[in-house]
Amino acid sequence: MLICHCNIITEKEIEQTIIGLLDEDPWQLIVPAKVYHAMRKRGRCCGCFPNVVETIIRVTENYHARSEGSGADHLDRVRGLRVQYGSRFHERRSADHRAA
Ligand code: FES
Repeated sequence: MLICHCNIITEKEIEQTIIGLLDEDPWQLIVPAKVYHAMRKRGRCCGCFPNVVETIIRVTENYHARSEGSGADHLDRVRGLRVQYGSRFHERRSADHRAA
């Protein structure tokens, strides 16, 4: 599935890049700009960033769930922050306002 129409980046490419970053440092903070920088791309309209954030969360959760399970407390804290700060709205855009 195409996530970024400006740079023609698929969901699979983003997932592989995130896993590569997690292999380097499993506890680093990964944001869309870091993923795009690793792919030698950059955000143009940045309309894909909410989808990239959701992909980062999903891939990171799965990555740590597959590893030893020592990060369960950390993942619970991350989920709590996600509920607290939410990811449905980004710069006053609702979740349904996406080009993809
Ligand atoms: S859709 Fe990704 S930068 Fe525009």
